[in-house]
Amino acid sequence: MLKANAIETSMSRKKQSVGQRGLQARQSALNKRAPKCRPPHLNSYMRILLFSGKGGVGKTSVAAATAVHLAEAGKRTLVMSVDPAHSLADSFDLGGALFHGNTSEPTQIANRLFIQEVNINHEIKQYWTDISAYVTSVLRTTGLSGVEAEEMAIFPGMEELSAMMYVNKYRKSDEFEILILDCAPTAESLRFISLPTALDWYMKHIFHLERGILKTVRPLAKHLTPVELPPDSYFRNIQGLFEKLEGVDAVLEEPAITSVRLVTNAEKMVLRETQRAFVYFSLHGLVVDGIVVNRLIPEEVADRFFEKWRRSQAKTLAEIEEYFAPVPVRRIPMFCEEVLGYDRLREMAQKVYEPSEDPAAVTRTSTPFSFVREGDHYEVQLDFPFAEKGEIGLFRKEDELVVEIGTIRRHIGLPTTMTGLAPAKARLTGRKLRVEMREPI
Ligand SMILES: Nc1ncnc2c1ncn2[C@@H]1O[C@H](COP(=O)(O)OP(=O)(O)OP(=O)(O)O)[C@@H](O)[C@H]1O
Ligand SMILES: [Mg+2]
Repeated sequence: MLKANAIETSMSRKKQSVGQRGLQARQSALNKRAPKCRPPHLNSYMRILLFSGKGGVGKTSVAAATAVHLAEAGKRTLVMSVDPAHSLADSFDLGGALFHGNTSEPTQIANRLFIQEVNINHEIKQYWTDISAYVTSVLRTTGLSGVEAEEMAIFPGMEELSAMMYVNKYRKSDEFEILILDCAPTAESLRFISLPTALDWYMKHIFHLERGILKTVRPLAKHLTPVELPPDSYFRNIQGLFEKLEGVDAVLEEPAITSVRLVTNAEKMVLRETQRAFVYFSLHGLVVDGIVVNRLIPEEVADRFFEKWRRSQAKTLAEIEEYFAPVPVRRIPMFCEEVLGYDRLREMAQKVYEPSEDPAAVTRTSTPFSFVREGDHYEVQLDFPFAEKGEIGLFRKEDELVVEIGTIRRHIGLPTTMTGLAPAKARLTGRKLRVEMREPI
C-alpha cells in the first residue's frame, strides 16, 4: 500500500479533465453551442434522466415508475425508449393490438404522461430518405431484391441516432419538462451517448474529404464502376442529420440537465457491469447521480431456499454502498408478480421515492472522480473535501484503485488504459486528490 505522506499542496495548472469540468465552463460551452436549450417561459431546463444497466435488471420498469411518479407530481413527462428491442408499451401493459406501433411518436397514456418508442421504419421516411434510397440502390446492384435491399439498408445505430435527434428536438422546445430515456443494456447505452462525438469526428475529418473526392471522380467513375456513387443529396441528408444533433453532446454532459441512473441487482456479476458502466459514463463526462438496486428479496420471505440468496444479496448490497459512495443507493424489493401496468409501476415508484420527493432534482453536479492524461502519465482525480495530510492510503486491487481515508474506503474502477498501472504518488491540491498512475517498477 502506498501511503500518501508526500502530499503536495501546490496550486495546480489548469488542465483538461476527462470526466469532470467546472459547472461554469460547462454552462458557457452549452450556451455557446446550444443557445436554445432554455425555453424562455420555463424556469428551468428540461431535465433528462437516463436509465442504464445490465440486461434484464429492471431498467424499463424503474424508468417507467419514475415517469409515473413525476407525472403524478405535475410534471409533463415523456419516457422514450432508446432500446431497439422496445418494451415500454409492454411495461405499461398497453397491448400491441391497441397501438400497432403508434408509439413511434409521443403517445399520451395518462395525465401529463407520454411514451415514445422510436421506430426506424417510421424514422426512415422522415429523416433518412436519401441515405436509405442510395444504400438500397447499391444493394440492389448486388442482386438483392427490392424488399431485401430495403431491409438491409437499415444499419445498427440508425435508430439510436434518430432517438438522439429527438432528444435534441425536445430540449429546444417546451413540449416536455422531463425526458426519461429508457436505454438498452450498458454497452449500447454507451454507444448511444458517444454517437454525437463519433459523428462530430466523422464530419470534421472524413465527410468533406469524401464529398470533395467524389465530386472530382464522379464523371470518370460513372464509366468505370457498375456501382452508383452517392449523389450529393446523400451528403446533404447526412449534413442535415448532423445539424439536427448539434449541441446535444453538451446537453448530455451538463449535470444540471442530464443525470444517469444505473439500475442493478445485488449480484456479483451484475455489480461488476454496473461498476464498469459507472466508470465509462464518468469518462464520457456524464454524471451518475443515483444507483437503484432492484429485486431485493424481502425480509418477510421465510423460505429456506431464499435464505442463502438473501445473505448473498446483503453482502453484495454492502459492497454496492461502499463502492459507489457518495452516490446514493436506492433499493427496490422483488415483487410477488411482474411489474406490469400503471398501478404496479406506481407501486414500484412508492418503493423508490418518498411521496413528496422529486426524482428530477439536481443533486450532483460533478463526478466523484475523473481520469486525466498528464504528460507522460495518467492521473485519477478525486473530490476530497475533508482529507488531511498523511491519512490517505492507496493501493491497486485487480482493476480498481482503492483509496482509504480513516475507516472509509473508496473503490474506483479503472478504465482499460489504466488497468496495468499502479498508484505512484498522490498530492492534494485544493480539495482534489490527484493520484499519479504509472507502470509498476
Ligand atoms: N422488483 C421487481 N419485482 C418483480 N419483477 C420485476 C421487478 N423489476 C422488474 N421486474 C420484471 O422483470 C422483467 C424485466 O424488467 P425490465 O423489462 O424492466 O428490465 P430491463 O432491464 O429493462 O430489461 P432489458 O435489458 O431487456 O431492457 C419484467 O417482466 C418486469 O416486470
Ligand atoms: Mg428494457
